[in-house]
Amino acid sequence: MSTERDPVLIAPSLLSADLAALTESVRMIERGGADWLHVDVMDGHFVPNVSIGPPVVASLRPYSERYFDCHLMMTEPGRYLEPFAKAGADGCTVHVEIGGTRELISQMRSLGLRVGLAANPDTPFEAVEPFLGEIDLLLLMTVFPGFGGQSFMGEVMPKVTQAREAIEQHGFALDLEVDGGIDQTTAPVAVAAGANVLVAGSAIFSKPQPLRAAHDLRVAARSAQQ
Ligand code: DX5
Ligand code: ZN
Repeated sequence: MSTERDPVLIAPSLLSADLAALTESVRMIERGGADWLHVDVMDGHFVPNVSIGPPVVASLRPYSERYFDCHLMMTEPGRYLEPFAKAGADGCTVHVEIGGTRELISQMRSLGLRVGLAANPDTPFEAVEPFLGEIDLLLLMTVFPGFGGQSFMGEVMPKVTQAREAIEQHGFALDLEVDGGIDQTTAPVAVAAGANVLVAGSAIFSKPQPLRAAHDLRVAARSAQQ
């Protein structure tokens, strides 16, 4: 759980990593390049793409003690929460757009998962507001989910600030994560708006030196906290 004064966390997204060398990416995070591991799970239905699932999480688990942050871009995440928990996910994030949120929250709780709720760029803050007191992480997408390497949508920032203000006002202990188009330029913008966890895929793994890229991103993000 985070307060405003906790340092910003960097969560590299495996989506942009070399999928044939995932242990290398995990090792990079273990060597201090970043804080969490963001696992993008796509079902080819909620988003027009497919990616990885619980077996990959289970295979990577022995290589890391970091927080595995599983972002479920799925129409029916409820069918997969238990497999993810058994595979070693620390937290799962489901999208508010699919409905059934309260039931999914209690399912995640009973599995011992940290509970995340995500909203697409065009989903209003009001859709997630009723759940803020029941979740551990709010993920506000800064691109439409489905693919890495898209451009950051700055127009989501007022919603990030709105969420941060509500969190502070009610004293909720929850992380506010942004995902999509985060790089050294946009990271400080998102942090200034109120985010404290930054997902980054291509800005880390598409660079020749991912460890350095992750470090530079963290420095850029934390500069906005001064
Ligand atoms: C988008 C995913 C993101 C994505 C981020 O559908 O949820 O996590 O991989 O990639 P970048 O940082 O390249 O926008
Ligand atoms: Zn994601």
